[in-house]
This record gives sequence, structure tokens and C-alpha cells, in this order.
Amino acid sequence: MTPTPILDLDDISISYSGVARAVSSVSLRVMPGEVVGLIGESGSGKSTLAHSILGLLPASASVEGRHMRLNGQDLLAASANARRHLRGPGAAMVFQNPMATFSPLHRIGRQLMDFLWRDRASSPDEKRRRIIHALADAGISDPEARFDAYPFELSGGMLQRISIAAALLMQPALLIADEPTTALDVTMEAQILHLMRELRQRTGVSILMISHQLGVIAEICDRVAVMYAGRIVEEGPVERIFADPRHGYTKALLSCELSLVEDGAARLPAISWRDEPGEVRP
Ligand SMILES: Nc1ncnc2c1ncn2[C@@H]1O[C@H](COP(=O)(O)OP(=O)(O)OP(=O)(O)O)[C@@H](O)[C@H]1O
Ligand SMILES: [Mg+2]
Repeated sequence: MTPTPILDLDDISISYSGVARAVSSVSLRVMPGEVVGLIGESGSGKSTLAHSILGLLPASASVEGRHMRLNGQDLLAASANARRHLRGPGAAMVFQNPMATFSPLHRIGRQLMDFLWRDRASSPDEKRRRIIHALADAGISDPEARFDAYPFELSGGMLQRISIAAALLMQPALLIADEPTTALDVTMEAQILHLMRELRQRTGVSILMISHQLGVIAEICDRVAVMYAGRIVEEGPVERIFADPRHGYTKALLSCELSLVEDGAARLPAISWRDEPGEVRP
């Protein structure tokens, strides 16, 4: 029997009032334990899609489609209140800038306690123990001391580890990471990707990894969907996309990265907006 997908988007379109469609007829599945990459140029609709799953879109946005199932439950068919209850244990998000994830005014531990607000059965001491355990799992050394630290006392890499720990505290079935390493240097990036791989193995969490860096996608994903101008234009196992890209945008993206590796002076290919979207001009 095929397992139920953790995330199942069917024909989802999203518009902001007064702006052309940001997401057009997107269908995408993430299976249990799978890491799916969502790659695409700036403005192609990746964050809009991610925010719609978590209910983070502004009131000016409208979402329509056949279904948006999280853990088998359709968010589009649910009432606003039911949606909140489905989203909590369903999905959690890690954002691009770890500095913006935490308030600068409060200690880390106090902010992480807020992530456990749903858990009314545990005492504050139990919650503290769980948080310290989660920090240690995320590779934070001396987690007791970090519990009492302010965000400005920690590096960006450490804060991003703590954001991942915070997201996993809620034991979500799906972790959505929106460019989680873009604000970090390459050493930190490698450490964060290593941590995410390890946590996936240990907890079995599914991951939707948004990026425009092919290296990040190659490092961690099983499958990749390529977004271009609001649509998914290509999807497949990560090896296939790298070995045999079919859409113009994917080809252009790969050849940009390859030409930088092989010949820094090579001309970058451009995709024309006047022609059919996706057509590549050398
Ligand atoms: N709050 C908003 N109001 C109106 N339009 C928006 C809003 N947020 C995004 N958009 C528009 O929706 C489209 C998709 O934007 P989105 O941020 O989802 O792209 P993205 O793929 O995440 O880009 P990036 O790689 O730069 O993060 C863009 O045309 C953008 O200008
Ligand atoms: Mg974005």
C-alpha cells in the first residue's frame, strides 16, 4: 500500500490582490521521510507557496485549488480554526535569516518555551529539560548556558541551529526550510546541511527545502521541483535533474554554475521574458 503523502498539493494557485498570479496550478507531493527541493529564480513563487502551507500569507493573498493536504487533512476544506490545529503538528518552518527569527529582547530559553505553548500537561521544568535536550541534539554546546543567552550573544550559525531545534520541538511531520543557509558563510552552510540530514535520519521528518543554490539541493534532496514564473516546470530525482535537465531554466541554471566552475569568464545564458517563458538565449 502506498503511504499517505505528508504534503499533497493539487493544482494550487495563489494571487496577491493587484498583482498577477504568484503561483499557478502547482501540484507537489512530499512523502514520509523524503527531502524535496524547491528551486527557482527570485520571484518565482517559492516562499508564497511555503507560506500558504503554514498560513503565513497576508490578507491580500488568496489561495485556490483542488486540495492542499497536510498529513492527509485538506487545509483548503477546513475552517480557519481547524486549519490552525492541523498546521501546528503538521508543519514548521525555518526562515532565511536566523537573526529575524528571534526577538533581540528576550533570552533564547524563554522564546523556546513559547514554542511549547500547546503542551499544557508538562511543567516548566519538564519543558526546560526538553528544550535543553533539543538544543544538544542540534549540536549546541553547553545548552544550559545557551538557554539563558540573548540572541545577540550567539553567532548566525548557532541561531540557525537553534531555529531548527525550535521547529523540531513541535515534532512536525514536515519541516519547511526557506533558504536556511543563504545568510551563512560556506562553513556554516555545510554544518547546517549536515545537521538537517542527521535530524531527518534520526526523526524521520520530511523536509521541503527551498533554495536557489544547486549545491544545497544536491547535498540534501532526494527529489527536486523547479519553479519558474509561478509554475513547476520540471520535477524529478535529484540525479536526473542534474544529469539531464529538460526545461530551459534548469539548463540555464546548471550551465551558469558549471561555467563559473569551468571558466569564470564565460557568458551567462539569459532567459527571455519576451519569448516563451523558459526559452534560453545563449
Ligand atoms: N506580500 C506580497 N504582496 C504582493 N506581492 C507579493 C507579496 N509577496 C510576494 N509577492 C509577489 O509574488 C511573487 C512571488 O514572490 P515570492 O516571494 O514567493 O518568490 P520567491 O520565489 O520566494 O523569491 P526569492 O527567491 O527572491 O525569495 C513575486 O512577484 C512577488 O513580487
Ligand atoms: Mg523567497
